[in-house]
Amino acid sequence: MKEFSENYEALQKEFEGNVREYCAALALRPEILNESFKYSLLLGGKRVRPVLMFASAQMLGGKTADVANLALALEMIHTYSLIHDDLPAMDNDDFRRGQPTSHKKFGEGQAILAGDALLNEAYRICISECAKGRTYQAAALLIAQNAGYDGMIAGQAADLYYQGQDSSDESVYDFIILRKTAKMIESAVVVPALVYGMDDNIVAIMREFGSNLGRLFQITDDILDVTGDFDKLGKSIGKDKDENKVSAVNVFGLEKSYALADHFCELCLKLLAQLPFECAFLERFTKFVRSREK
Ligand code: IPE
Ligand code: IPE
Ligand code: MG
Ligand code: MG
Ligand code: MG
Repeated sequence: MKEFSENYEALQKEFEGNVREYCAALALRPEILNESFKYSLLLGGKRVRPVLMFASAQMLGGKTADVANLALALEMIHTYSLIHDDLPAMDNDDFRRGQPTSHKKFGEGQAILAGDALLNEAYRICISECAKGRTYQAAALLIAQNAGYDGMIAGQAADLYYQGQDSSDESVYDFIILRKTAKMIESAVVVPALVYGMDDNIVAIMREFGSNLGRLFQITDDILDVTGDFDKLGKSIGKDKDENKVSAVNVFGLEKSYALADHFCELCLKLLAQLPFECAFLERFTKFVRSREK
């Protein structure tokens, strides 16, 4: 197996090429929408969700091209969620992916609309993928469920509701991270399993792996808000404490947050060991999420 980082970069580069090609063919009007839509989508970021979707497809013996459009749709939903998450009415952040946030660059109204455009376009893509058959319909349905009112939106609503309340405990924390972050990561892992019509027990293990990997991802995001570096993360640090967010560090303290991250890392590795596939990349991916600095 090639070095993990080489493999990651190859998948990231492939996805980046797809995004660039998609954007090059698009000329939205008015021009400000064209700019705001492409600005956030082309700023990069780690592309964790598309890379995971590609890697999961390859693990199952499939091709990245089979899920390329759904990976683009999922990354659009993620990108819209970040634009809205950064708004003054939500987390009020000035930087994202090392650049001014959408509302800082285009104003709040245009940022809201750029997010709306990304969300609508994501579902246009999902609906058009449904023509490929029942397995694609199941995959598109999962994306919609996990991003919607019982998924990411519920997590974001709870994140805002419990902000500053000092009443948060372990169960509130898990409610929030499972929905606001883990459901989208679960989609990335499980979409290929649905597209290829894998057995229910395989889908169930992959679903559990994806949601625990997503929890791990948010716990390390919370840790990095305290220990991280602006230049590496591309976003402001120390915000969770300032805004009294239900973050791992605010609920458990830093030391217990590391222990919690270790717990979910171990759990993910155990779940991968139950799969009858070559899982080396996803194992390394899990360890990367545990020790990431960006
Ligand atoms: C940030 O997601 C929001 C969280 C769910 C923690 P990422 O850390 O994947 O952000 P980008 O896409 O790399 O910018
Ligand atoms: C964001 O969580 C989750 C979503 C955008 C759905 P955070 O608010 O912790 O993400 P960052 O720290 O702003 O990237
Ligand atoms: Mg937030
Ligand atoms: Mg935020
Ligand atoms: Mg955060």
